[in-house]
Amino acid sequence: MNGADIMPFDGMRPSWRNQLKDDALGRFVRSWFSAERPMRPPQDNGLHFMDGLGANLILYREGQFQVQLCLVQPNTVLPPHRHQNVESYVVHLSGEVWFKCESHGYFVPEHHIKMVASDGTSAMRGFVFYLGTEDEHSGHTEEMGASFLSIQKWREGIKPTCIARDWTGEQISDAHGFDILTSKAQK
Ligand SMILES: [Fe+2]
Repeated sequence: MNGADIMPFDGMRPSWRNQLKDDALGRFVRSWFSAERPMRPPQDNGLHFMDGLGANLILYREGQFQVQLCLVQPNTVLPPHRHQNVESYVVHLSGEVWFKCESHGYFVPEHHIKMVASDGTSAMRGFVFYLGTEDEHSGHTEEMGASFLSIQKWREGIKPTCIARDWTGEQISDAHGFDILTSKAQK
C-alpha cells in the first residue's frame, strides 16, 4: 500500500469536503491533501509527551498553520475545554474515542466508536469536526486509546505549539496544568 492509499482525500466521508470552509484554513487543508500530505515535522516544539494524555507530533508546519498527529492514551477523559487561539479540523484516524461539541451539534454515538469497517479500519475513520476558537468540546477514549489529526490555524502573534498547551477549561491532570503554565512562561 502506498501513502496515497492510507487516507485518500476523495476517500473521506462526504461530510469532509462539505465541512471545509472556503477560508484560509480550508484552503490549507485542501493544499496539504492535494500535495499528498507532505511530512515536515519541525524540531522547534514539534513533539509533545505527557503522562496521562499521550503523545503529539507536528507532522507539518507552515507559518500559523500546522498538522498535528494526536495519540491519546487509553481511558483518558478530555474534560470540557476550548482552544482559544486555534481554529481546527479534527479528523478521526483509529481507536476508540467518544466526542461531543454541543455548539455544532457534533456527537458521536457510543455504539459507533467500537465499530470496524470492512477494510479493517475504524468505522469512524475520516469523520471530521470543525472547532472554532469559542467551541467547547469534550470526550474520552476507551481501552484502545485513539489517534486523530488536528489541522490547525493559530491566531496571528501566537507561536504554534501543541493544542494541549492552548487549553482553556478544566485540565486533564496536575501535570497538564503544569505543562500549560510552563509553555506560557516560555512565550
Ligand atoms: Fe480539544
